[in-house]
Amino acid sequence: TEHTTIVVSTEGRVGKIQLDRPKALNALNQTLMEEVVSAAVAFDADPDIGSILILGSDKAFAAGADIKEMAHQDYPSMYASDWFRRWEDLTELRIPIVAAVKGYALGGGCELAMMADIIVAGESAKFGQPEINLGVIPGMGGSQRLTRSVGKAKAMDMVLTGRHIGAEEAERIGLVSRVVPDEQANPVAEEVAELIAAKSKPAAQMAKEAVAASFETTLQQGIRLERRLFHSLFALADQAEGMSAFAEKRGPEWTHR
Ligand code: HXC
Repeated sequence: TEHTTIVVSTEGRVGKIQLDRPKALNALNQTLMEEVVSAAVAFDADPDIGSILILGSDKAFAAGADIKEMAHQDYPSMYASDWFRRWEDLTELRIPIVAAVKGYALGGGCELAMMADIIVAGESAKFGQPEINLGVIPGMGGSQRLTRSVGKAKAMDMVLTGRHIGAEEAERIGLVSRVVPDEQANPVAEEVAELIAAKSKPAAQMAKEAVAASFETTLQQGIRLERRLFHSLFALADQAEGMSAFAEKRGPEWTHR
């Protein structure tokens, strides 16, 4: 497929999506949304791919939804197209997603990063939900995912003031998984993605499903879902292989089945 806003490649079992609108600091326009989500959906369905890696540029992961594209929209056009809804398809994928963030991850950029399962931040990373300064509010899940991720105190602070937070604060409040020097952000994120892609794909998918369910369910429902998923893994060849390999003191050879 021809892409105009992203570069798609595969590295072993990792599917890579590089955001590629450098002149606009990777602002997320409608074309980019469609290209990212379509590429991710295809990777999710590909048995030879075990994880997705989303990369930005050195200066920006993404500086937000494309303000120039939105400026001329009105309520009927936004409502008719259900503006931003397509992004939700990314969050329904079962394959684990890793994001590497350097520079700006603002507005929709922060929201896209939060759709990933693991965020590796470079020291230059700046996260923020500055929509309030444009007379609007987050529209790609920021008010919900940020609050679930960092709690009310920090979410209200960020969403109401629009202030940026640095990588160190982002790690301290639980927004990102790891902070590394900038030049290591992409390589470390890639290592993490490779490590995940080397696991049994159904086990990794169910692990993601179980953790993700904790944001949707009561504790009791979540624990029951986890236990049922755990039981169901005993229907897979990979469970037998994983446990045999342990007993035989060798590495497992997953068939991802
Ligand atoms: C469209 C954008 C953009 C954006 C940057 N650009 N962010 N274009 N949408 N979100 C463009 C600039 O217009 C400029 O284009 C080029 O990228 C480089 O940006 P500069 O501003 O010149 O760079 P710099 O001075 O380094 O400042 C970087 C910045 C600033 C602090 C990140 O660009 C900025 O504040 N951007 C907007 C951040 C923001 O408000 N994001 C939230 C968007 S709303 P030209 O053509 O002039 O060179 C959102 C949520 C949607 O994401 C929910 C409902 C709205």
